[in-house]
Amino acid sequence: MEKRVGRRLVLFPLPVQGHINPMLELAHLLYSKGFSITIIQSDFNSLNPSKYPNFTFHSLFYGFSLADLKVEDFPSLAILFNNRIKNPFKECLAKLVRDASESEEPIACLISDALYYFTQSVANSLQLPRIALRTGGSSSTLAYVAFPSLKEKGYLPTPGSQFDVEEAVAEVPPLRVKDLPLINTKHPDKFYEVICNLVNETMVSSGVIFNTFEELESLALAKLRQQFSIPIFSIGPFHKYFPSGSGSSNSLVTPDETCIPWLDKQEPKSVVYVSFGSLAALAEIEMLEIAWGLANSNHPFLWVVRPGMIGGSEWLEGLPSGFVENLGGRGHIVKWAPQPQVLAHPAVGAFWTHCGWNSTVESICEGVPMICMPRFTDQLVNARYVSHVWKIGLQLEKGSERGEIERTIRKLLEENEGKEIRERSSSLKEKAKLCLKQGGSSYHSLEALVAHILSLES
Ligand code: UDX
Repeated sequence: MEKRVGRRLVLFPLPVQGHINPMLELAHLLYSKGFSITIIQSDFNSLNPSKYPNFTFHSLFYGFSLADLKVEDFPSLAILFNNRIKNPFKECLAKLVRDASESEEPIACLISDALYYFTQSVANSLQLPRIALRTGGSSSTLAYVAFPSLKEKGYLPTPGSQFDVEEAVAEVPPLRVKDLPLINTKHPDKFYEVICNLVNETMVSSGVIFNTFEELESLALAKLRQQFSIPIFSIGPFHKYFPSGSGSSNSLVTPDETCIPWLDKQEPKSVVYVSFGSLAALAEIEMLEIAWGLANSNHPFLWVVRPGMIGGSEWLEGLPSGFVENLGGRGHIVKWAPQPQVLAHPAVGAFWTHCGWNSTVESICEGVPMICMPRFTDQLVNARYVSHVWKIGLQLEKGSERGEIERTIRKLLEENEGKEIRERSSSLKEKAKLCLKQGGSSYHSLEALVAHILSLES
């Protein structure tokens, strides 16, 4: 543990799992660099402060919950977040700043999720520097930066019917029309507005942090550095700084630990781990195709089905009766897995994922090749990079059809094309390890971030 530096940081995560994990990992990291940490969190999806004795927590009253969150409502929800909590957040932050100015530990800056774009003007009004944490990758952020020019060309707010979905989009190579980071919503204009606000308010912040590393996204990072006049820190993979560190330690749901003894019984690199993150939903028909694709592949599988993620079902009612039992132990279904530990298990041979950025980075860190089934926003960009830039996975281009699923699993785990993908995944894993070591790219960027925070004047 490095010596305390006499500066406090206020961190403000968006209250969904894929955003909480990287913010909390960043909190641990900056604490280990000597900063004191205060976390402002929502009154729902909240973490238990007693699990984090080194941090101070404050709760904000949001006046609504995410219990009925539908992904297609995301743009309205993001706008609601940014409008509704501005005043309570400002009051809370102002009090923290006042109290800290009378203590021996002034607040150096606010670090807030880039999607909480309203925090920039609040920080400005309190003369407090703000650093944005962008929880997605820099390649997808680059596509977001291109939104105004994509709108000019007619791709946004939704691609006009003159475009073929397979067509390359010259402004954002190697994306095709169908890879643009959009969401199937009734409110495409609102989504456009949210993303433009995210980009514009990040550009005027005091810096932006990415959970990525140079060797993975050097081109996108270089392009962002040309377009942003603020410092950009690529200090990931966050969860690998601490030997015991893992995303699931910040889980809002208790992970089902039966996964690990079940994995212990399987052959090395034989298991397909299937998880679509914390938000994605499936139709019942898709669930059936997935189930039969997995069963017909003849590979063992560990599948995370969150309660309520299948439309019209509480949990597994849509599966044929006795589906898992009839597989004779070859399939294991859980409601929530200790994902980083699962991916690190020697029995796991492939990760069938929605390509949320955390899942993508966690898979890369363990050298596990991916089967990509993106659902919305940055996941579409991440999937394109996994399959066509880093070439460490295969994308299910035609959605979830049992025959294609079976063929893709076999290709990835058994065939020659799969062998090359598996080898590239292993070599990228080594790069992800090296960048954190002394002299590595993320190691340097983290040192630069610490120096930058200490140089900020509030
Ligand atoms: C969301 C967006 O969907 C994603 O596109 C964006 O990049 C981040 O925010 P989410 O869909 O939840 O996130 O996906 P992801 O980014 O992969 O984050 C999920 C996290 O939950 C990962 O850290 C993963 O390890 C964890 N997880 C998931 C578990 O611990 N157990 C599980 O069973 C499933």
